[in-house]
Amino acid sequence: MATTSQSFQRSPEGANSEFVPVARAENVMGLIGNTPLLEITKITAGLLRPGVRIFAKLEGFNPGGSVKDRPALKMIMEGLRKGELVPGKTIIDSTSGNTGIALAMLGAALGFPVELVMAANASRERKKIIQAFGAKIIYSDPLEGSDGAILLCRKIIERNPERYFKPDQYANENNPLAHFETTGPEIWRQTKGAVTHFIAGLGTGGTVMGTGRYLKMRNPAVKVIGVEPDDAMHGLEGLKHMASSIVPPIYHEEELDDKIQVSTEDAYEMVYALGQIEGVLVGQSSGAAMVAALKVARGLREGCVVTIFPDFGEKYLSTNLWIGWKSWTRDRLSHLLAKCKTESESVIT
Ligand SMILES: Cc1ncc(COP(=O)(O)O)c(C=O)c1O
Repeated sequence: MATTSQSFQRSPEGANSEFVPVARAENVMGLIGNTPLLEITKITAGLLRPGVRIFAKLEGFNPGGSVKDRPALKMIMEGLRKGELVPGKTIIDSTSGNTGIALAMLGAALGFPVELVMAANASRERKKIIQAFGAKIIYSDPLEGSDGAILLCRKIIERNPERYFKPDQYANENNPLAHFETTGPEIWRQTKGAVTHFIAGLGTGGTVMGTGRYLKMRNPAVKVIGVEPDDAMHGLEGLKHMASSIVPPIYHEEELDDKIQVSTEDAYEMVYALGQIEGVLVGQSSGAAMVAALKVARGLREGCVVTIFPDFGEKYLSTNLWIGWKSWTRDRLSHLLAKCKTESESVIT
């Protein structure tokens, strides 16, 4: 297994500017990004070699509550700059997730109406958050899932194309660009250029592509690793099982150094552990990212592993995630950690 020769202390030129949290902003757009890195120390205690550290970027601190604020802002700003989004138009997309919340928030802040097409069975919290921002929800057949929402959204636009602006996060290069311009530089600065491994869940692929490209540009030795569910039928909100999905045009798997599959069960267990042991309550995809980060970190002699926690956990309290949360106890952690150790042997580091 390959190991890194970089020391965590390494501090290349240009990487020294300090992280400055936003203390005051003119509007919510000014609050997007600059999220903190949290070192994960309690779950990992005694498991990692002394020169190995794991950090998670807490994207739940964005004003819309997720990593999706970054690409939503970039896609809307570019739409405005190019004259594709002008007063009188409505922002429309088919999403029940964090992108919908980000678009609803930004539409409110910028004075544009927002319509979101989503399957009628989307979680209660999401519907309410989106409506609280004043956006309109158009329901598609729950039996047709997200594909049904995509098709209905297309039909609505076809009927009246002049009325709408559709950001289209799966095909819009401004999605990865947002991460190239913000998430990547932030991680570089926050680790003082010491990051050796970047690990992120795969939804549209925007986070891993854009951040990975930036980090590799600064240091080609940085390993970029994607995380996906291990099965087409999964409960990892926000993530895609690529082999059974329509592959997003912005996603280029050949740019990744590795891809790690995580089961829904392991990701949920990690969410419970992060809440009860680390004191950080996150969503399912953060649990999956942490499982993958541990698998990588356990195989390293030294390194600085950075992963993304895309959102916090409170949006999922009405979902199946909460069922396990109630009965979970800390003694279950050792079982999960043992699994991460066995599997770390098969990960390219
Ligand atoms: C909770 C959550 N995790 C992970 C992701 C994946 O991010 P990306 O679309 O940048 O691949 C998303 C995307 O919607 C998400 O909502």
